[in-house]
Amino acid sequence: MNVSDSERVATLLENRGYEMTLDEESADVILINTCSVREKAEQKLFTRIGEIRHSRKDKPLIGALGCVAQLEGETLFKKIDGLDFVIGTRAVGRVHNAIEKYRQTEVPVLDLGEREFDYDWSVDQAHRRSPWIAFLPIIEGCNKFCTYCIVPFSRGREKSFEGSTLVRQVLELRRQGVKEIHLLGQNVNSYRPPTLSGLESFAGKSPFAKLLRAVAATGIERIKFATSFPRDFNSDIVDAINENENLCDWVHLPVQSGSDKVLAAMKRGHTVSNYQRRVDAIRNSPRGISLTTDIIVGFPGETDADFQKTIELFDYCDFDNAYIFKYSPRPGTPAAAMSDDVSPETKTERFNALEELRKKYVTKRQEALIGKRLSVLVEKASTRTIGGLSGHSTCNRLVNFVGDASLIGSVVDVIVTQSKVNSLYGELG
Ligand code: 5AD
Ligand code: SF4
Repeated sequence: MNVSDSERVATLLENRGYEMTLDEESADVILINTCSVREKAEQKLFTRIGEIRHSRKDKPLIGALGCVAQLEGETLFKKIDGLDFVIGTRAVGRVHNAIEKYRQTEVPVLDLGEREFDYDWSVDQAHRRSPWIAFLPIIEGCNKFCTYCIVPFSRGREKSFEGSTLVRQVLELRRQGVKEIHLLGQNVNSYRPPTLSGLESFAGKSPFAKLLRAVAATGIERIKFATSFPRDFNSDIVDAINENENLCDWVHLPVQSGSDKVLAAMKRGHTVSNYQRRVDAIRNSPRGISLTTDIIVGFPGETDADFQKTIELFDYCDFDNAYIFKYSPRPGTPAAAMSDDVSPETKTERFNALEELRKKYVTKRQEALIGKRLSVLVEKASTRTIGGLSGHSTCNRLVNFVGDASLIGSVVDVIVTQSKVNSLYGELG
């Protein structure tokens, strides 16, 4: 979500006559977009601004955006010397106003307000990570309040965007030559638009499955979506994938723990067995859907027996990959008031054990693809092979292969020949 916000801020400023530069030494304004889901985000912001102030004799304008800005607000001005403006997560559409206001008044500017009604969600091609891939937020915020998580505080309540507007945006992106769109949301499948206009004709129980079908009907080449929330993951989402080839065969479904006791303490709203039911539906798909997850180790009260259950669930789910995190308290969350009673050593042990398991499954599932044909969107020249290209498969794996640079931007078939640590190798086929 943060990458997609940065892309949009760059678009907005350039449309207002600002020129973007990655050269920190010459920039007149430096914007730092922060993410407090990650650890020590606030500390990183202090350090970053300190570095900038040291390296520059003149003083560029410095602004903080994103979660840390939203959560800390005005206190950041007291804590950090040289910070000129602070823009909350839903105020990014007014970053130009903050810059101008600071320039006129030289008084620190704070904007933690709500998004403007006509906020422009578009991103210029030049500011996309790839000209062929576009991120499209379909729902903002989160209402789930998992006890460890800062997002409901930093991003506010869930707000979905109008289905017909989203479909129009996808059609426009397709017209611009975009090959792959990523529908984004903290809980993308909790999508619930203000009205279901234009989506009624698509069969399916959940509004998200209807949206998927409507987006698939635009004919855009590939559609991915993340992140899915287990409780709202109905089987009609798998049906939609089964029925539409342009809906990619990849689901990211964070489980966080394999222990019902820990899941309840996390207030995840799902149990091990109903998560397994969802996994069964995904694994039964003829599309061979790739399944990835997030897991937290060392949540307050997690015993060895709880952790063992996480390992068992990993085996059951046969995950294609996982992001593993050591629990750390985020100030202001309910879990931060619990005793952080799993020692750092135990957290590290559990993290390492799960990392080993993850690697085993990545290797196993990647090796099962050797000899198979994958559809790959060629994104760039590969740094790993001479004359090589790389891109992602529909199952979201990085694939390297040899081919002509003219293929960049097109979708090609690659036959997998080799599995390495974090990527696959193959030949055009
Ligand atoms: N400690 C550790 N990991 C966390 N995550 C979110 N909050 C915390 C926290 N306090 C992880 C979750 C989430 C991912 C984006 O970050 O696994 O799914
Ligand atoms: Fe955080 Fe839970 Fe919301 Fe995900 S669903 S963003 S973990 S509160």
